[in-house]
Amino acid sequence: MDKEIKAIILGAGKGTRMKSSRPKVLHEIFGKSLIGWVIDAISALPYDTECTAIIGYKAEVVAQYLNDNYKYVNTTVQKEQLGTGHAAAQNLPLLNNYRGIMLILCGDTPLITTKTLDNLIKYHEDNNSDLTVMTAVFEDPKGYGRIVRNYKQEVIKIIEERDATESIKEIKEINTGIYCLNWSKMRKAFSDLKNNNAQGEYYLTDIVTWARENSFKTLGYKISDNNEMFGINSRKQLAIASRIMKERYIDKLMDEGVTIVDPDSTYISPDTKIGIDTIIYPNTYIEGKNEIGSRCKIGPMAHLRGNCKVGDESKVGNFVELKNAQLAKKSNVCHLTYIGDAKIGSHVNIGAGTIFANYNSITKEKKMSEVADGASIGSNSVIVAPVHIGKDAMIGALSCITKDVQSDALAMTRTPQKEYKDWVKNKKGEKNES
Ligand code: UD1
Ligand code: CA
Repeated sequence: MDKEIKAIILGAGKGTRMKSSRPKVLHEIFGKSLIGWVIDAISALPYDTECTAIIGYKAEVVAQYLNDNYKYVNTTVQKEQLGTGHAAAQNLPLLNNYRGIMLILCGDTPLITTKTLDNLIKYHEDNNSDLTVMTAVFEDPKGYGRIVRNYKQEVIKIIEERDATESIKEIKEINTGIYCLNWSKMRKAFSDLKNNNAQGEYYLTDIVTWARENSFKTLGYKISDNNEMFGINSRKQLAIASRIMKERYIDKLMDEGVTIVDPDSTYISPDTKIGIDTIIYPNTYIEGKNEIGSRCKIGPMAHLRGNCKVGDESKVGNFVELKNAQLAKKSNVCHLTYIGDAKIGSHVNIGAGTIFANYNSITKEKKMSEVADGASIGSNSVIVAPVHIGKDAMIGALSCITKDVQSDALAMTRTPQKEYKDWVKNKKGEKNES
């Protein structure tokens, strides 16, 4: 972990085509923001990483979000969006003494993987490059900056579509917008950038030209999976990215020994770990970070909303919703149940229709409940947090549990069933007499 890598994530743009009041980088896939996916991909590199996000449009909102969820990420505000080069130059003064590798990425490309970033860094180092541009080959390269290489296959220039001649537009190799550079050599490029181009913007891509003028080595690293650089500009692209992400992960899970009965109708966040021989039935939606053990059965129509743990051989069945819930091994919660903010032991049976009422709407607080090993909860019960249900305890069906239940005890709150002999017959008799 000795090697230090710093990263700049560009995310100051408004994202006009999202038609949203929310900054683009805060739109979500599986409950995680677009910029969050990028930050996590960088943070998982096997080095000492540090990220700075360049923010601009609704900067306070983005800064607040990052502070709440990614405290270790620095933020720098770009007051006016004068171009990608201008954005990347925003925190130059803070980096005067930095000598290591700098990655520059965009905050709206959530499909980039740690592996590819690591490959980029390795390629950059193995080839003693000073500036390495991550590139991709597109059948239809329209809209992207084109990569110009020399006879030695070095990248000598990036030309934006708007500034390109017809012959440059023929080039199919494009700039992904991800760069790896030796900061000590390249940092001066940022203060030298000019805005004399078709858009009057400071182009980050001009650092290539600068590096050539200063005799630095500039290479291109071609990615094999173009999806990784898929950027999001519209709601449609957001849906496409979410589909690509889930397909990629479901394929991986199946390779690792998880049965996915119907991949088309199954959504599983890549932050969810699943053990072998677990079966995921159709129409299951799993978002956020979760851990599901081996030989479990999940769904059909189950919803895991994050921070859930399901132990080996447990079942989470039809119309069951879990949120911040732990279920140890061999426990069953098979039908029509909500478990929010609860810790459930092993060999527990939770009857159909049970609700863990975790939210107090007067105090606006959420509380935890606990159910110890071997307990059994009768159907249609409400467990009002915070309560502790002891080991091997039983709860009678239709109970509303508001107090702790001791181990081995039976607790029930419903009124006992009464039976009135011949009540119906007598009623009918009364009617006929009148
Ligand atoms: C950029 C590249 C292009 C590449 C493409 C890949 C330049 C000049 N062009 O083009 O070669 O093929 O990405 O997707 O860099 N941003 C800021 N501040 C600004 C301007 C932009 O933070 O002042 C951020 C945006 O929020 C966005 C990213 O930079 O996340 C890219 O900006 P965008 O305007 O989308 O660049 P492209 O025109 O797509
Ligand atoms: Ca773009």
